[in-house]
Amino acid sequence: MTVPASSSTPALRVLTGITTTGTPHLGNYVGSIRAAVRASRQSGVQSFYFLADYHALIKCDEPARIQRSTLEIAASWLAAGLDPERVTFYRQSDIPEITELTWLLTCVTGKGLLNRAHAYKAMLDKNAAAALEPDTDVTAGLFMYPVLMAADILMFKAHQVPVGRDQIQHIEMARDMAASFNHLYGEHLVPPQALIDDNVALLPGLDGRKMSKSYDNTIALFGPREQLRRQIMSIVTDSRAPGEPKSTEGSALYQIYRAMADDAEAAAFAQAFSDGIAWGDAKQQLFERIDREIAPMREHYQHLIAHPEEVERLLLAGAEKARAIATPFMRELRRAVGLRSMAAPSGAARPKAEGKPALPAFKQYRETDGRFYFKLADAAGRTLLQSRAFDSPREAGQAVKKLQAEGAAALAALAAQLDLSASQSTERIAEALEQLLQAAAA
Ligand code: TRP
Repeated sequence: MTVPASSSTPALRVLTGITTTGTPHLGNYVGSIRAAVRASRQSGVQSFYFLADYHALIKCDEPARIQRSTLEIAASWLAAGLDPERVTFYRQSDIPEITELTWLLTCVTGKGLLNRAHAYKAMLDKNAAAALEPDTDVTAGLFMYPVLMAADILMFKAHQVPVGRDQIQHIEMARDMAASFNHLYGEHLVPPQALIDDNVALLPGLDGRKMSKSYDNTIALFGPREQLRRQIMSIVTDSRAPGEPKSTEGSALYQIYRAMADDAEAAAFAQAFSDGIAWGDAKQQLFERIDREIAPMREHYQHLIAHPEEVERLLLAGAEKARAIATPFMRELRRAVGLRSMAAPSGAARPKAEGKPALPAFKQYRETDGRFYFKLADAAGRTLLQSRAFDSPREAGQAVKKLQAEGAAALAALAAQLDLSASQSTERIAEALEQLLQAAAA
Protein backbone atom coordinates (compact mmCIF):
# COMPACT_ATOMS: atom_id res chain seq x y z
CA MET A 1 0.00 0.00 0.00
CA THR A 2 1.21 3.49 -0.77
CA VAL A 3 0.60 6.16 1.83
CA PRO A 4 -2.90 7.44 1.17
CA ALA A 5 -2.86 11.15 0.51
CA SER A 6 -5.96 12.65 2.04
CA SER A 7 -7.80 14.82 -0.45
CA SER A 8 -7.35 18.03 1.56
CA THR A 9 -3.61 17.82 2.24
CA PRO A 10 -1.61 16.31 -0.55
CA ALA A 11 1.24 14.18 0.74
CA LEU A 12 4.72 15.58 0.76
CA ARG A 13 6.51 13.94 -2.13
CA VAL A 14 10.15 13.04 -1.64
CA LEU A 15 12.25 11.58 -4.45
CA THR A 16 15.82 10.49 -4.84
CA GLY A 17 17.90 8.58 -7.36
CA ILE A 18 20.97 6.39 -6.94
CA THR A 19 23.37 6.10 -9.84
CA THR A 20 23.97 2.44 -10.61
CA THR A 21 27.72 2.28 -10.70
CA GLY A 22 29.54 0.41 -7.97
CA THR A 23 28.48 -1.54 -4.90
CA PRO A 24 27.15 0.17 -1.76
CA HIS A 25 29.64 0.43 1.11
CA LEU A 26 29.23 1.20 4.78
CA GLY A 27 29.66 4.92 4.05
CA ASN A 28 26.65 4.86 1.71
CA TYR A 29 24.63 3.04 4.35
CA VAL A 30 25.41 5.54 7.10
CA GLY A 31 25.38 8.54 4.76
CA SER A 32 22.15 7.95 2.89
CA ILE A 33 20.52 4.51 2.83
CA ARG A 34 19.77 4.27 6.57
CA ALA A 35 18.20 7.74 6.83
CA ALA A 36 16.25 7.31 3.59
CA VAL A 37 14.76 4.01 4.71
CA ARG A 38 13.73 5.59 8.02
CA ALA A 39 12.23 8.61 6.29
CA SER A 40 10.27 6.39 3.91
CA ARG A 41 8.38 4.99 6.88
CA GLN A 42 7.00 8.37 7.97
CA SER A 43 3.32 8.85 7.42
CA GLY A 44 2.18 11.69 5.20
CA VAL A 45 5.20 11.25 2.97
CA GLN A 46 5.05 9.69 -0.45
CA SER A 47 8.54 8.51 -1.39
CA PHE A 48 10.05 7.68 -4.73
CA TYR A 49 13.38 5.88 -4.91
CA PHE A 50 14.85 4.92 -8.19
CA LEU A 51 17.92 3.36 -9.74
CA ALA A 52 19.39 5.99 -12.04
CA ASP A 53 20.69 3.62 -14.69
CA TYR A 54 20.48 6.17 -17.52
CA HIS A 55 22.77 8.35 -15.44
CA ALA A 56 25.10 5.39 -14.98
CA LEU A 57 25.63 5.22 -18.76
CA ILE A 58 27.26 8.64 -18.59
CA LYS A 59 30.04 7.28 -16.39
CA CYS A 60 30.28 3.64 -17.36
CA ASP A 61 30.38 1.80 -20.69
CA GLU A 62 30.59 -1.75 -19.32
CA PRO A 63 27.18 -3.40 -19.78
CA ALA A 64 27.84 -6.21 -17.30
CA ARG A 65 28.88 -3.72 -14.62
CA ILE A 66 25.76 -1.64 -15.11
CA GLN A 67 23.57 -4.72 -14.79
CA ARG A 68 25.42 -6.07 -11.76
CA SER A 69 25.46 -2.74 -9.98
CA THR A 70 21.74 -2.26 -10.57
CA LEU A 71 21.08 -5.60 -8.91
CA GLU A 72 23.45 -4.92 -6.00
CA ILE A 73 22.07 -1.47 -5.29
CA ALA A 74 18.45 -2.61 -5.54
CA ALA A 75 19.18 -5.59 -3.25
CA SER A 76 21.02 -3.35 -0.77
CA TRP A 77 18.12 -0.93 -0.44
CA LEU A 78 15.61 -3.72 -0.09
CA ALA A 79 17.77 -5.54 2.45
CA ALA A 80 18.22 -2.31 4.41
CA GLY A 81 14.47 -2.21 4.87
CA LEU A 82 13.02 -0.23 1.99
CA ASP A 83 9.45 -1.46 1.64
CA PRO A 84 8.45 -1.53 -2.03
CA GLU A 85 4.79 -1.80 -1.03
CA ARG A 86 5.00 1.48 0.77
CA VAL A 87 7.28 3.49 -1.50
CA THR A 88 7.58 3.63 -5.27
CA PHE A 89 10.85 1.86 -6.05
CA TYR A 90 11.73 1.63 -9.71
CA ARG A 91 14.39 1.64 -12.35
CA GLN A 92 14.70 4.88 -14.34
CA SER A 93 15.05 3.14 -17.70
CA ASP A 94 11.71 1.36 -17.18
CA ILE A 95 9.99 4.73 -17.42
CA PRO A 96 10.23 5.87 -21.06
CA GLU A 97 8.34 9.05 -20.15
CA ILE A 98 11.47 10.27 -18.37
CA THR A 99 13.45 10.47 -21.59
CA GLU A 100 10.47 12.07 -23.30
CA LEU A 101 10.31 14.77 -20.66
CA THR A 102 14.07 15.21 -20.94
CA TRP A 103 13.58 16.42 -24.51
CA LEU A 104 10.80 18.85 -23.62
CA LEU A 105 13.05 20.30 -20.92
CA THR A 106 16.05 20.38 -23.24
CA CYS A 107 14.08 22.74 -25.46
CA VAL A 108 13.47 25.27 -22.69
CA THR A 109 16.95 25.07 -21.13
CA GLY A 110 19.54 27.69 -22.03
CA LYS A 111 22.84 26.18 -23.10
CA GLY A 112 24.47 28.79 -20.87
CA LEU A 113 22.80 27.24 -17.84
CA LEU A 114 24.38 23.86 -18.61
CA ASN A 115 27.73 25.51 -19.32
CA ARG A 116 27.85 26.38 -15.63
CA ALA A 117 27.32 22.86 -14.27
CA HIS A 118 30.13 21.97 -11.85
CA ALA A 119 30.77 18.51 -13.30
CA TYR A 120 31.07 19.90 -16.81
CA LYS A 121 33.23 22.82 -15.72
CA ALA A 122 35.50 20.46 -13.81
CA MET A 123 36.13 18.55 -17.04
CA LEU A 124 36.94 21.79 -18.89
CA ASP A 125 39.36 22.78 -16.13
CA LYS A 126 41.01 19.39 -16.20
CA ASN A 127 41.44 19.58 -19.96
CA ALA A 128 42.81 23.11 -19.74
CA ALA A 129 45.33 21.99 -17.12
CA ALA A 130 46.45 19.19 -19.46
CA ALA A 131 46.61 21.62 -22.42
CA LEU A 132 43.90 19.66 -24.27
CA GLU A 133 40.94 20.87 -26.32
CA PRO A 134 38.32 22.10 -23.83
CA ASP A 135 35.76 19.42 -24.67
CA THR A 136 38.10 16.43 -24.82
CA ASP A 137 36.29 13.37 -23.43
CA VAL A 138 33.14 15.38 -22.69
CA THR A 139 30.12 13.52 -24.04
CA ALA A 140 26.88 15.30 -24.74
CA GLY A 141 25.49 12.94 -22.06
CA LEU A 142 27.70 14.52 -19.40
CA PHE A 143 26.67 17.95 -20.61
CA MET A 144 22.97 17.00 -20.49
CA TYR A 145 23.18 15.26 -17.10
CA PRO A 146 21.30 18.05 -15.28
CA VAL A 147 18.41 17.93 -17.76
CA LEU A 148 17.90 14.20 -17.32
CA MET A 149 18.04 14.67 -13.57
CA ALA A 150 15.48 17.48 -13.74
CA ALA A 151 13.16 15.19 -15.73
CA ASP A 152 13.52 12.52 -13.00
CA ILE A 153 12.39 15.00 -10.39
CA LEU A 154 9.77 17.02 -12.27
CA MET A 155 8.04 13.93 -13.65
CA PHE A 156 6.83 13.01 -10.16
CA LYS A 157 6.27 16.57 -8.93
CA ALA A 158 8.68 15.93 -6.08
CA HIS A 159 8.72 18.66 -3.43
CA GLN A 160 11.89 17.56 -1.72
CA VAL A 161 14.98 15.86 -3.06
CA PRO A 162 17.39 14.51 -0.44
CA VAL A 163 20.86 14.80 -1.94
CA GLY A 164 24.45 15.45 -1.01
CA ARG A 165 25.82 18.98 -1.15
CA ASP A 166 27.45 18.27 -4.49
CA GLN A 167 23.99 17.94 -6.04
CA ILE A 168 22.48 21.24 -4.87
CA GLN A 169 23.29 22.96 -8.13
CA HIS A 170 21.40 20.27 -10.06
CA ILE A 171 18.28 20.90 -8.00
CA GLU A 172 18.63 24.64 -8.61
CA MET A 173 18.82 23.91 -12.32
CA ALA A 174 15.69 21.75 -12.15
CA ARG A 175 13.94 24.72 -10.55
CA ASP A 176 15.16 26.96 -13.39
CA MET A 177 13.87 24.51 -15.98
CA ALA A 178 10.49 24.17 -14.25
CA ALA A 179 10.18 27.98 -14.16
CA SER A 180 11.02 28.30 -17.86
CA PHE A 181 8.58 25.58 -18.84
CA ASN A 182 5.77 26.98 -16.70
CA HIS A 183 6.34 30.48 -18.02
CA LEU A 184 5.91 29.27 -21.58
CA TYR A 185 3.22 26.65 -21.17
CA GLY A 186 1.40 27.27 -17.89
CA GLU A 187 1.80 25.89 -14.39
CA HIS A 188 2.47 22.21 -14.97
CA LEU A 189 5.76 21.57 -13.20
CA VAL A 190 6.49 21.80 -9.47
CA PRO A 191 9.85 23.39 -8.57
CA PRO A 192 11.67 21.05 -6.18
CA GLN A 193 13.81 21.80 -3.17
CA ALA A 194 17.07 20.15 -2.16
CA LEU A 195 16.94 18.49 1.22
CA ILE A 196 20.35 18.47 2.86
CA ASP A 197 20.78 16.54 6.06
CA ASP A 198 23.59 18.19 7.98
CA ASN A 199 23.55 15.49 10.63
CA VAL A 200 24.52 12.60 8.45
CA ALA A 201 27.85 11.20 9.37
CA LEU A 202 30.66 11.53 6.89
CA LEU A 203 32.32 8.22 7.47
CA PRO A 204 36.11 7.95 7.43
CA GLY A 205 37.52 5.00 5.51
CA LEU A 206 40.13 2.43 6.49
CA ASP A 207 42.95 4.96 6.08
CA GLY A 208 41.16 7.80 7.90
CA ARG A 209 40.32 9.77 4.76
CA LYS A 210 36.67 10.10 3.72
CA MET A 211 35.31 6.66 2.84
CA SER A 212 35.13 6.61 -0.93
CA LYS A 213 35.43 4.13 -3.73
CA SER A 214 37.94 6.42 -5.41
CA TYR A 215 40.29 6.13 -2.40
CA ASP A 216 39.91 2.35 -2.28
CA ASN A 217 39.41 2.58 1.49
CA THR A 218 35.83 1.33 1.83
CA ILE A 219 34.24 -1.21 4.13
CA ALA A 220 31.88 -3.45 2.12
CA LEU A 221 28.31 -3.21 3.36
CA PHE A 222 27.04 -6.70 2.69
CA GLY A 223 30.22 -8.63 1.97
CA PRO A 224 30.95 -11.90 3.77
CA ARG A 225 31.26 -11.63 7.55
CA GLU A 226 34.94 -12.59 7.43
CA GLN A 227 35.62 -9.77 4.99
CA LEU A 228 33.98 -7.31 7.38
CA ARG A 229 36.20 -8.56 10.20
CA ARG A 230 39.31 -8.36 8.04
CA GLN A 231 38.52 -4.85 6.85
CA ILE A 232 37.85 -3.58 10.35
CA MET A 233 41.07 -5.11 11.66
CA SER A 234 42.91 -3.13 8.96
CA ILE A 235 41.64 0.29 10.08
CA VAL A 236 44.63 2.54 10.65
CA THR A 237 45.31 3.50 14.30
CA ASP A 238 48.20 5.12 16.13
CA SER A 239 50.79 3.03 17.91
CA ARG A 240 49.57 3.38 21.49
CA ALA A 241 50.03 0.19 23.46
CA PRO A 242 47.31 -1.63 25.42
CA GLY A 243 46.72 0.19 28.72
CA GLU A 244 47.71 3.57 27.32
CA PRO A 245 44.78 6.03 27.15
CA LYS A 246 43.63 6.67 23.60
CA SER A 247 42.08 9.69 22.03
CA THR A 248 38.75 9.45 20.22
CA GLU A 249 39.56 12.62 18.35
CA GLY A 250 40.76 11.91 14.84
CA SER A 251 40.23 8.19 15.39
CA ALA A 252 38.54 6.61 12.35
CA LEU A 253 37.72 3.61 14.51
CA TYR A 254 35.81 5.77 16.98
CA GLN A 255 34.04 7.79 14.28
CA ILE A 256 32.76 4.68 12.55
CA TYR A 257 31.54 3.30 15.86
CA ARG A 258 29.90 6.65 16.65
CA ALA A 259 28.01 6.58 13.34
CA MET A 260 26.65 3.10 14.05
CA ALA A 261 25.86 3.29 17.76
CA ASP A 262 23.47 5.19 20.02
CA ASP A 263 24.67 7.84 22.47
CA ALA A 264 25.07 5.50 25.45
CA GLU A 265 27.07 2.97 23.46
CA ALA A 266 29.27 5.72 22.02
CA ALA A 267 29.92 7.12 25.52
CA ALA A 268 30.93 3.67 26.79
CA PHE A 269 33.25 3.23 23.81
CA ALA A 270 34.85 6.63 24.47
CA GLN A 271 35.32 5.62 28.12
CA ALA A 272 37.06 2.43 27.03
CA PHE A 273 39.40 4.58 24.93
CA SER A 274 40.45 6.69 27.90
CA ASP A 275 40.75 3.52 29.99
CA GLY A 276 43.35 2.30 27.52
CA ILE A 277 41.54 -0.44 25.61
CA ALA A 278 43.87 -2.35 23.26
CA TRP A 279 43.35 -1.45 19.60
CA GLY A 280 42.66 -5.09 18.78
CA ASP A 281 39.87 -5.22 21.36
CA ALA A 282 38.39 -1.92 20.17
CA LYS A 283 38.33 -3.26 16.64
CA GLN A 284 36.64 -6.44 17.79
CA GLN A 285 33.96 -4.34 19.53
CA LEU A 286 33.41 -2.26 16.41
CA PHE A 287 33.15 -5.40 14.30
CA GLU A 288 30.56 -6.88 16.64
CA ARG A 289 28.54 -3.68 16.74
CA ILE A 290 28.37 -3.37 12.96
CA ASP A 291 27.74 -7.07 12.48
CA ARG A 292 24.87 -7.02 14.97
CA GLU A 293 23.01 -4.48 12.82
CA ILE A 294 24.09 -5.76 9.43
CA ALA A 295 23.84 -9.55 9.85
CA PRO A 296 20.07 -9.92 9.32
CA MET A 297 20.20 -7.54 6.37
CA ARG A 298 23.17 -9.39 4.92
CA GLU A 299 21.16 -12.59 4.89
CA HIS A 300 18.32 -10.87 3.07
CA TYR A 301 20.81 -9.31 0.66
CA GLN A 302 22.43 -12.62 -0.15
CA HIS A 303 19.04 -14.16 -0.78
CA LEU A 304 18.14 -11.40 -3.24
CA ILE A 305 21.48 -11.62 -5.04
CA ALA A 306 20.89 -15.34 -5.44
CA HIS A 307 17.37 -14.66 -6.76
CA PRO A 308 17.67 -11.72 -9.14
CA GLU A 309 14.29 -12.62 -10.64
CA GLU A 310 12.68 -11.53 -7.35
CA VAL A 311 14.36 -8.14 -7.56
CA GLU A 312 13.36 -7.87 -11.21
CA ARG A 313 9.74 -8.60 -10.34
CA LEU A 314 9.71 -5.94 -7.60
CA LEU A 315 11.23 -3.35 -9.91
CA LEU A 316 8.73 -4.05 -12.67
CA ALA A 317 5.88 -3.70 -10.19
CA GLY A 318 7.45 -0.41 -9.07
CA ALA A 319 7.67 0.75 -12.68
CA GLU A 320 4.00 0.05 -13.12
CA LYS A 321 3.20 2.22 -10.10
CA ALA A 322 5.48 4.97 -11.39
CA ARG A 323 4.02 4.87 -14.89
CA ALA A 324 0.52 5.17 -13.53
CA ILE A 325 1.67 8.70 -12.67
CA ALA A 326 4.09 9.36 -15.52
CA THR A 327 1.95 8.27 -18.47
CA PRO A 328 -1.02 10.60 -17.87
CA PHE A 329 1.27 13.44 -16.81
CA MET A 330 3.33 13.13 -19.98
CA ARG A 331 0.11 13.17 -21.98
CA GLU A 332 -0.78 16.46 -20.27
CA LEU A 333 2.66 17.92 -21.00
CA ARG A 334 2.65 16.86 -24.64
CA ARG A 335 -0.70 18.54 -25.07
CA ALA A 336 0.58 21.66 -23.30
CA VAL A 337 3.48 22.15 -25.72
CA GLY A 338 1.38 21.48 -28.81
CA LEU A 339 2.17 17.83 -29.49
CA ARG A 340 -1.48 16.95 -29.83
CA SER A 341 -4.09 15.66 -32.16
CA MET A 342 -4.74 17.91 -35.10
CA ALA A 343 -8.42 17.15 -34.70
CA ALA A 344 -8.43 18.76 -31.23
CA PRO A 345 -9.19 22.49 -30.87
CA SER A 346 -5.98 24.49 -30.67
CA GLY A 347 -6.94 26.38 -27.50
CA ALA A 348 -5.29 29.51 -26.21
CA ALA A 349 -1.97 30.20 -27.85
CA ARG A 350 -0.30 30.82 -24.53
CA PRO A 351 -1.46 31.27 -20.97
CA LYS A 352 -1.66 34.97 -20.25
CA ALA A 353 0.03 36.16 -17.10
CA GLU A 354 -2.37 37.75 -14.67
CA GLY A 355 -1.99 41.30 -13.37
CA LYS A 356 1.36 43.06 -13.46
CA PRO A 357 3.92 41.76 -15.91
CA ALA A 358 6.65 39.83 -14.16
CA LEU A 359 10.08 41.44 -14.04
CA PRO A 360 13.63 40.20 -14.31
CA ALA A 361 15.22 39.75 -10.90
CA PHE A 362 18.62 39.62 -9.25
CA LYS A 363 19.38 36.71 -7.02
CA GLN A 364 22.33 36.47 -4.63
CA TYR A 365 23.43 33.13 -3.33
CA ARG A 366 26.26 31.14 -1.88
CA GLU A 367 27.75 28.15 -3.64
CA THR A 368 29.20 24.97 -2.19
CA ASP A 369 32.64 26.51 -2.73
CA GLY A 370 31.69 28.87 0.14
CA ARG A 371 31.88 31.96 -2.07
CA PHE A 372 29.22 34.45 -3.09
CA TYR A 373 27.55 34.94 -6.43
CA PHE A 374 24.66 36.69 -8.05
CA LYS A 375 22.70 36.19 -11.17
CA LEU A 376 20.12 38.12 -13.12
CA ALA A 377 17.20 36.04 -14.29
CA ASP A 378 14.48 37.03 -16.69
CA ALA A 379 10.82 37.01 -15.69
CA ALA A 380 10.63 33.30 -16.50
CA GLY A 381 13.49 32.51 -14.16
CA ARG A 382 16.02 31.88 -16.92
CA THR A 383 19.50 33.08 -16.14
CA LEU A 384 20.62 36.05 -18.23
CA LEU A 385 23.70 37.17 -16.41
CA GLN A 386 26.01 35.17 -14.20
CA SER A 387 28.60 36.68 -11.87
CA ARG A 388 31.96 35.28 -10.90
CA ALA A 389 32.73 34.47 -7.28
CA PHE A 390 32.94 37.21 -4.64
CA ASP A 391 34.64 36.76 -1.30
CA SER A 392 31.83 38.41 0.65
CA PRO A 393 28.10 38.95 0.23
CA ARG A 394 28.77 42.70 0.56
CA GLU A 395 30.94 42.80 -2.56
CA ALA A 396 28.35 40.83 -4.53
CA GLY A 397 25.65 43.19 -3.26
CA GLN A 398 27.64 46.26 -4.35
CA ALA A 399 27.93 44.96 -7.89
CA VAL A 400 24.19 44.26 -7.96
CA LYS A 401 23.49 47.80 -6.70
CA LYS A 402 25.68 49.28 -9.39
CA LEU A 403 23.82 47.38 -12.11
CA GLN A 404 20.49 48.38 -10.63
CA ALA A 405 21.46 52.04 -10.49
CA GLU A 406 23.31 52.37 -13.78
CA GLY A 407 21.83 49.61 -15.94
CA ALA A 408 23.76 48.38 -18.96
CA ALA A 409 26.19 51.29 -18.62
CA ALA A 410 27.74 49.45 -15.65
CA LEU A 411 28.43 46.26 -17.57
CA ALA A 412 31.78 47.34 -18.98
CA ALA A 413 33.09 48.50 -15.61
CA LEU A 414 32.03 45.21 -14.00
CA ALA A 415 33.23 42.96 -16.80
CA ALA A 416 35.93 41.36 -14.65
CA GLN A 417 33.36 40.30 -12.07
CA LEU A 418 30.94 38.82 -14.56
CA ASP A 419 31.07 35.45 -16.19
CA LEU A 420 30.13 36.58 -19.65
CA SER A 421 30.89 33.21 -21.21
CA ALA A 422 28.07 31.73 -19.09
CA SER A 423 25.72 34.63 -19.70
CA GLN A 424 23.23 35.41 -22.41
CA SER A 425 23.83 37.99 -25.12
CA THR A 426 24.61 41.53 -23.97
CA GLU A 427 21.49 42.82 -25.73
CA ARG A 428 19.22 40.59 -23.68
CA ILE A 429 20.98 41.59 -20.47
CA ALA A 430 20.79 45.28 -21.38
CA GLU A 431 17.11 44.91 -22.19
CA ALA A 432 16.37 43.34 -18.82
CA LEU A 433 18.37 45.99 -16.94
CA GLU A 434 16.49 48.70 -18.84
CA GLN A 435 13.19 47.07 -17.86
CA LEU A 436 14.26 47.12 -14.21
CA LEU A 437 15.31 50.79 -14.39
CA GLN A 438 11.96 51.72 -15.88
CA ALA A 439 10.05 49.75 -13.27
CA ALA A 440 12.06 51.43 -10.50
CA ALA A 441 11.33 54.86 -11.98
CA ALA A 442 7.61 54.15 -12.38
N1 TRP B 1 22.87 12.71 -9.66
C1 TRP B 1 22.55 11.95 -8.49
C2 TRP B 1 23.85 11.52 -7.80
O1 TRP B 1 24.83 11.31 -8.47
C3 TRP B 1 21.70 10.73 -8.82
C4 TRP B 1 20.39 11.16 -9.37
C5 TRP B 1 19.94 11.00 -10.66
C6 TRP B 1 19.38 11.82 -8.65
N2 TRP B 1 18.71 11.53 -10.79
C7 TRP B 1 18.31 12.05 -9.58
C8 TRP B 1 19.25 12.23 -7.31
C9 TRP B 1 17.15 12.69 -9.19
C10 TRP B 1 18.08 12.90 -6.94
C11 TRP B 1 17.05 13.12 -7.87
O2 TRP B 1 23.87 11.38 -6.62
